[in-house]
Amino acid sequence: MSEVDEILNQLTTEEKEKLMTKKVLITGGGGFLGSWISETLLALNTKVYCLDNFSTGVRRNIERLKNNKNFYLIEKDVEDFETDETFDFIFHFASRPAPDDYVLHPVETLKANSIGTLKMLELSKRSNATFVYASSSEVYGDAEIIPTPEDYWGKVNPIGVRSCYDEGKRFSEALCMAYLREYNLDVRIVRIFNTFGPRLRADGAYGRAISRFLSQALEHQPVTIYGDGQQTRSFTYVTDTVTGILKATASNVARGEVFNIGNTEETKIIDLAILIIELTKSKSKIIFLPPAKDDPRRRRPDITKAMLKLKWAPKVSIEEGIKRTIKWLRNQNF
Ligand SMILES: NC(=O)c1ccc[n+]([C@@H]2O[C@H](COP(=O)([O-])OP(=O)(O)OC[C@H]3O[C@@H](n4cnc5c(N)ncnc54)[C@H](O)[C@@H]3O)[C@@H](O)[C@H]2O)c1
Repeated sequence: MSEVDEILNQLTTEEKEKLMTKKVLITGGGGFLGSWISETLLALNTKVYCLDNFSTGVRRNIERLKNNKNFYLIEKDVEDFETDETFDFIFHFASRPAPDDYVLHPVETLKANSIGTLKMLELSKRSNATFVYASSSEVYGDAEIIPTPEDYWGKVNPIGVRSCYDEGKRFSEALCMAYLREYNLDVRIVRIFNTFGPRLRADGAYGRAISRFLSQALEHQPVTIYGDGQQTRSFTYVTDTVTGILKATASNVARGEVFNIGNTEETKIIDLAILIIELTKSKSKIIFLPPAKDDPRRRRPDITKAMLKLKWAPKVSIEEGIKRTIKWLRNQNF
């Protein structure tokens, strides 16, 4: 079964009908998550307008979508985008997502998650569209409550190196809620936890832990861990994350709500590195680099709300997801 079929199979008939034959704008549609959302919506005969500046997205992600008559590519920075079109749904996913990368581009990262969010909310208001915002587990910062529920307010350094991302996401969430309260706009916020799978970039500063470890292990290069590796993350396979996002988009009970979308299986970074070396049968050694600044020690979502309201829970284990990603990396089949 293809990844897209796997996502569609988890949506109810009612959810699919809500998303079918619509007109949708996806900012960051050329990226990892955006391209999977685009492909899934195209399979539902929906018109997809993909807005991307390819700062972190790769063109190969959308190569095979370009032949679809319902797919429109707009190459632009989200903060400068103007249009007379209207849409049924707007997904605001444009942002540099990887810590090693966004710390090098803090102003750009903040612009996408402030001016970009404002522009897309205005366009949603004019369109009377449902607005879906890609927030992040990073809004919790170095969380003191684990597993972390949506009503935890976070422990974030507002002027630290990661603040361009964390505070951009927090400001955007506040802006979404302001549009709900003042204009009654249908906004939905998904706080996405580390997601991996086919199309996740592994190169240079874009590599996040799983993709970086995988590419290092497959090349028998040293696997690099920042800090002692005792920090934890919860890794979610892409089909599970996209299913959760689309359920939050189509649900009758998600208006004005925020949902943690993540796997509750908490993994130490050192154990992840060992697992990846094992699964790739690699000769790589692990090396430890200085810890990243303001790196949260633990990360694990409480997903009770998404389970109850969206009837969603992740299905793919970390081991299964890594095996599938290895297969994709070996074939590079976008
Ligand atoms: N993947 C994850 O684990 C994860 C976790 C939490 C939150 N998120 C959020 O989900 C969204 C998508 O992340 P992803 O993993 O697919 O990353 P990605 O880098 O693959 O996708 C982001 C896309 O946005 C585009 N983009 C960036 N800035 C832009 C701008 N100013 N104007 C237009 N396009 C721009 C990039 O070129 C890229 O194609 C981001 O907002 C990210 O913060 C992702």
